[in-house]
Amino acid sequence: SAKDLVGTSMLVTAGGTREPIDAVRVIANRSSGKQGYAIAEQAHKRGATVTIVSTVDRQTLAGITVVSVETAQQMLDAVSCHAPSSDVVVMTAAVADFRPVQAVAGKIKKDEGIPQIILEPTVDILGFLGASKPAGQILVGFAAETSKLVDNARGKLKRKNLDLIVANDVSGDVMGGAENTVLLITPKGAEAWPRMKKEEVAAKLAARIAEALA
Ligand code: C5P
Repeated sequence: SAKDLVGTSMLVTAGGTREPIDAVRVIANRSSGKQGYAIAEQAHKRGATVTIVSTVDRQTLAGITVVSVETAQQMLDAVSCHAPSSDVVVMTAAVADFRPVQAVAGKIKKDEGIPQIILEPTVDILGFLGASKPAGQILVGFAAETSKLVDNARGKLKRKNLDLIVANDVSGDVMGGAENTVLLITPKGAEAWPRMKKEEVAAKLAARIAEALA
């Protein structure tokens, strides 16, 4: 296999964040981390030095560094620390857009009535990375959409100052599933890839990233 990422450092985020409601409950999503880990592993095989900031506990290849986090804030902290020295950042994680303003200490009791959970927005990590992107860094985002796929993804590419965005329709069984049907969008145009295994999406994406760095 190609070793075209030797000398390249890559940061990949994977999994869905969990935002605490109380001591035992969280707001979560269906992301499995599979796509993010697959991208990290393909990049590692091509010779990149890879760090995964992850909310999930998955087996991965020896030589890949895994930083475990749970919340969007923890992911932001870990990413802020590693991104400035990374040649490539791939934000595959499904980051919560909202979190409870304050987690309740202890477990909320059923007999205390129906709780009102007040939410506040989280920081858009990818937006923050785009706004502070070092010269030459390749920033890759994902856009999970259930409508107006191309328009929404193009908007995100521009707004978040990305080099590449992988857009997918998540109205089916993509989140947590083994396969993905994606559109690859760059400032130059959009390209539809046929439905394929997440490992194959990762391999094709790693090749594109290597091209973009070359
Ligand atoms: O705007 P939207 O959430 O649809 O954008 C998706 C992209 O933004 C993904 O790459 C996701 O990892 C990233 N994101 C983020 N921080 C958030 C929400 C999304 O980095 N709070």
